[in-house]
Amino acid sequence: MNRLNRNWIAGLLAVALFAGAMAVRATAGEDNDFHFSIIGDRAGSPAAQVYGRVWREVDMLHPAFVINVGDTIQGGGDAKIEEQWKEIKTLFNRYRQYPLYLVPGNHDVFSEASEKTFVRETGRAVHYGFDYQNAHITVLDNSRGMELSDAELQFLESDLAQHQAQHPKFIFFHKPFWIPLVRVGSGEFALHKLARKYGVDYVVSGHGHTFMRLPFDGVVYMEVGSSGGGVEKKIERGAGFNDGVFFHHVWVYVKGGRVSMTVKELDGQRGQGRMFRAEDWDERGPHFDTGDPANTDKPTT
Ligand SMILES: [Fe+2]
Repeated sequence: MNRLNRNWIAGLLAVALFAGAMAVRATAGEDNDFHFSIIGDRAGSPAAQVYGRVWREVDMLHPAFVINVGDTIQGGGDAKIEEQWKEIKTLFNRYRQYPLYLVPGNHDVFSEASEKTFVRETGRAVHYGFDYQNAHITVLDNSRGMELSDAELQFLESDLAQHQAQHPKFIFFHKPFWIPLVRVGSGEFALHKLARKYGVDYVVSGHGHTFMRLPFDGVVYMEVGSSGGGVEKKIERGAGFNDGVFFHHVWVYVKGGRVSMTVKELDGQRGQGRMFRAEDWDERGPHFDTGDPANTDKPTT
């Protein structure tokens, strides 16, 4: 075989491999059709009834699975948490038909003993990955630090490398150390570089009890706020809905490769029941009328 023919064959092989890889990715995306729910923080003087109401609403939506952003229990010492897990699991058992993926928060995991308890009570490691249809979610642990440790970043890279064909991809961990970096427009941090390298779509955190959404350089960074965790101090300081301080949960629809998120505020005495598309909220806050449209609409029929 002469050199020209060899080059031709090599070229055809490269095209075929590329087309195959694109087909895997396209097929992976096309097959998705499911919903899941994201629940926010509960710890920090949890408001009575709020977390239970969030779960009742989530139950009405019949998600394929439920994931949170950490701080499920109040914590406060190894001696206290057995009872706290027992109490919250009474509620979880009511909804055990939904696979539940808990993320370790600083109230959940703060010592070796509390880490062991977390693993035993949740049935999950402190970091793990899972697929649902062709989507992939990686859960990481920064409960005891702010940034992601080298070990967490190594786990992330190996998990993403093993699931390159999955799409879309989400990363969940508790503390949103990315906020100041993303706000100044810096992509020069290891998490972001890995997210870009492996095509991660969403990075989702909690901890701040504040809804926040910062799309940046092809990755959507989001903080899910309070699903019952304390917000009184923020409200005393004058913060409100437009600042992301409200009780809510997030309803996620994955259709093909597209992710749509709807944020649902609680109603009754705990909010105004506002629902909005997550993409209508960015670093400047809400891009919609935050009043009740029913008060201003003038129906013609
Ligand atoms: Fe926290």
